[in-house]
Amino acid sequence: MSKKLIFLILSGPTKEYIDSVRFISNESSGKMGNALAQVALKRECGVIFISGPSSVFPTDVKLIKVTTALEMFKETKSNFKKADIIISAAAVADYCPVKTYKHKIKKNSEGMLIKLKRNLDIIGYCGKNKKNQIVAGFALETENLIGNARLKLENKKLDLIIANGRESFGSDSATMYIINADVVLEIKNKNKKIIAEKIIDETIRIFKNIES
Ligand code: CTP
Ligand code: CA
Repeated sequence: MSKKLIFLILSGPTKEYIDSVRFISNESSGKMGNALAQVALKRECGVIFISGPSSVFPTDVKLIKVTTALEMFKETKSNFKKADIIISAAAVADYCPVKTYKHKIKKNSEGMLIKLKRNLDIIGYCGKNKKNQIVAGFALETENLIGNARLKLENKKLDLIIANGRESFGSDSATMYIINADVVLEIKNKNKKIIAEKIIDETIRIFKNIES
């Protein structure tokens, strides 16, 4: 019997606090990450699920809730080696404030500048440090969808990238492209559950290929 595969799935948005009540974030429903986890469970795999603030969670997984990109990075790093397949459907904030103010900032000036610094690339870390593991990410693009997604696939050393446009936001169905180094597979206007099945099955297939 082959061993039980472990998925590490990153989901939801991250929140980067400016002060105690304001934050920078991304739109993300958590639906895609949840659908991926459901399919992985159906395929009798284990799931470690790291999620930013969201109301959509799978059950029967090891659930790790985080708030910021830095927390998501740290949890990913400490769970990374336990996983065979890592997929990030998370909408990680690209930047965070250099400083988080302890108290609510008063509007005592006509304008203000908030200094931001780049967050670490979580899935890029996984791609660059993988050992007999499969790493997949998503690419949200509003132009040159396939070309830009391919660049991310290469730069982050991913095995697979799933490209989608803005129209998939929050909705239950979407058109997505599953892309590896050679092939682009279009999944047209399908339910996220069906897309999740294709993604999970493809990652398992590639994993079994590197294993044999
Ligand atoms: N990602 C990540 N860590 C970050 C930013 C993004 O792990 N700090 C992951 C996302 O979860 C996704 C993939 O990288 O799986 C691509 O995210 P996307 O926002 O499309 O691309 P970026 O690399 O952030 O580039 P840009 O936003 O400039 O297009
Ligand atoms: Ca980004």
